[in-house]
Amino acid sequence: MSLTINRDRLLFEIDELASFSDAEAPAVTRIVFTPTDLKARAWMKAHCEEAGLTVRQDAVGNIFARWNGSDAAAPVVGTGSHIDAIPNAGKFDGVVGVLGGLEAIRGLQQSGFRPRHPIELLIFTSEEPTRFGIGCLGSRLLSGSLSPEAARKLTGNDGTTLDEVCRATGLGSDLERVKLPSGYYEAFIELHIEQGPLLERRQIPLGIVTKIAAPASLRIVIEGPGGHAGGVLMTDRHDALCAAAELILEIESAGRTSGAIDTVATVGMCEVFPGAVNSIPSQVRLSADVRDTDLQRRDTVLRTIEATCRSISVKRQVSIQSQLLNADAPADCAPAIIEALSQSCRKHDLNSLAMVSRAYHDSLFIARVAPVAMLFIPCRNGYSHRPDEYAAPEDIIRGTLVLAETLAALSR
Ligand code: GLV
Ligand code: MN
Ligand code: MN
Repeated sequence: MSLTINRDRLLFEIDELASFSDAEAPAVTRIVFTPTDLKARAWMKAHCEEAGLTVRQDAVGNIFARWNGSDAAAPVVGTGSHIDAIPNAGKFDGVVGVLGGLEAIRGLQQSGFRPRHPIELLIFTSEEPTRFGIGCLGSRLLSGSLSPEAARKLTGNDGTTLDEVCRATGLGSDLERVKLPSGYYEAFIELHIEQGPLLERRQIPLGIVTKIAAPASLRIVIEGPGGHAGGVLMTDRHDALCAAAELILEIESAGRTSGAIDTVATVGMCEVFPGAVNSIPSQVRLSADVRDTDLQRRDTVLRTIEATCRSISVKRQVSIQSQLLNADAPADCAPAIIEALSQSCRKHDLNSLAMVSRAYHDSLFIARVAPVAMLFIPCRNGYSHRPDEYAAPEDIIRGTLVLAETLAALSR
């Protein structure tokens, strides 16, 4: 099998997909099920069909593009990632795994390889939590990690539920049918940019993920009486934003002082109401994102945050409500796929690093129902979720080549 990756086509398509964006280039904003995202999805489906793949979409919009093997009943060897992008993102997060996955399949087709197992590209719906508050919607439903009833009720920032959005998009409401039958996958591999600096710093071209960290997120609402910025004396105030400021620093400190470098805690959203220069803030809405490779340590941080909410509430006499949106377990990658990836690296004389993924991915949830592994490529300075996110062409091509080799090895 002489396997080559079509570099020009893959790089061109990454740029083309980036043009489906609600932000000015180089930034990419592509929130799930917006008109822009729907156009990108249609573009993706057309490309998969052009490659001769059989395309289907489930009730939450996960897109499957299948290359049938000689044994149509054999479990699937899957690959894929997401194409939705947070506000002001870059063009590689998720996209490298989707377009790299498609190019890996096209490369295998052109090499004359014929798989026994079906090889399937999967484009997950809403890996990013931007619209519905929790990430990995598609993979949560595929793996049965989120019930269809709970999913239907998820409400976007605009007050529309997921159910309403799916119906308006023509997907219907049959979320019960999204969960994969058991044994669906032989293996699933996600190619992704590292979103951290380690590969670049150590000048290692590929990372083989052994474990995906456990993410959790909270929505916190702080309320006080507000009032006139001139009239209310400092001694009489219960300023919701001052309480939020204290809480944000405590959340940072809970992440910093866990004793492990793998603990991270972030407040990425802070909305202030009424948001007037001459009005004491009466409501602040915060998000908190806490992650760790160790579940107990992550949960200890969550408990610390809860306790801090209570103590700040008493001290400042404001109400603080916190709602746990998700608290997911970490996932281990499958040794057999790790070995297949390592063999493919060795075959091409490529050095690789065994590493954990501190970012979460749809693979975290697919790992609950299938053997999973992830392949990382470096990204410049470790930047991600920002417009200057960058992966070098040679790294993208290398990752795609190793992905293709591994898909071939697992589907023989
Ligand atoms: C995924 O985008 C994450 O936030 O880890
Ligand atoms: Mn992301
Ligand atoms: Mn991603």
